[in-house]
Amino acid sequence: MSIENCHMIELPRIQDPRGNLTFIEGQSHIPFNIQRVYYLYDVPGGAERGGHAHKGLEQLIIAMSGSFDVIIDDGKDKKRIHLNRSHNGLYICPMIWRELDNFSSGSVCMVLASNLYDEDDYYRDYAVFMRARWGA
Ligand code: TYD
Repeated sequence: MSIENCHMIELPRIQDPRGNLTFIEGQSHIPFNIQRVYYLYDVPGGAERGGHAHKGLEQLIIAMSGSFDVIIDDGKDKKRIHLNRSHNGLYICPMIWRELDNFSSGSVCMVLASNLYDEDDYYRDYAVFMRARWGA
């Protein structure tokens, strides 16, 4: 699993003069079944979120409103991705360290996740993540 396995997914968009509509079906538009949805909002200027990796969880991150950056890092390569469209999602595979920053005022970050919340699925220490990923 490397950052090459993380990619943008263009979601269906029904364009309409009354407003656009996007829908997401698990295992159809994204490569996992959706078990959980959570969102970040009221993020103060300059705040950073994330700062962890998941052992097995797959996620899709969407800028529902406004914009922010996601930095993905597999311990060898690192990439900063700017999200600002509610019809695009960033798929993140397991074993990727991620950080989120550069939140615009009023932005909303929605995350679709392949599993329920489980603290045991987290690496919250970068050194521990690196050891698990690449050995001592
Ligand atoms: P965390 O995943 O560290 O947030 P972020 O990566 O956005 O900075 O979660 C922050 C807190 O919220 C932590 O105490 C765990 C709790 N939490 C849940 O209880 N359920 C969830 O689904 C999530 C994502 C977090």
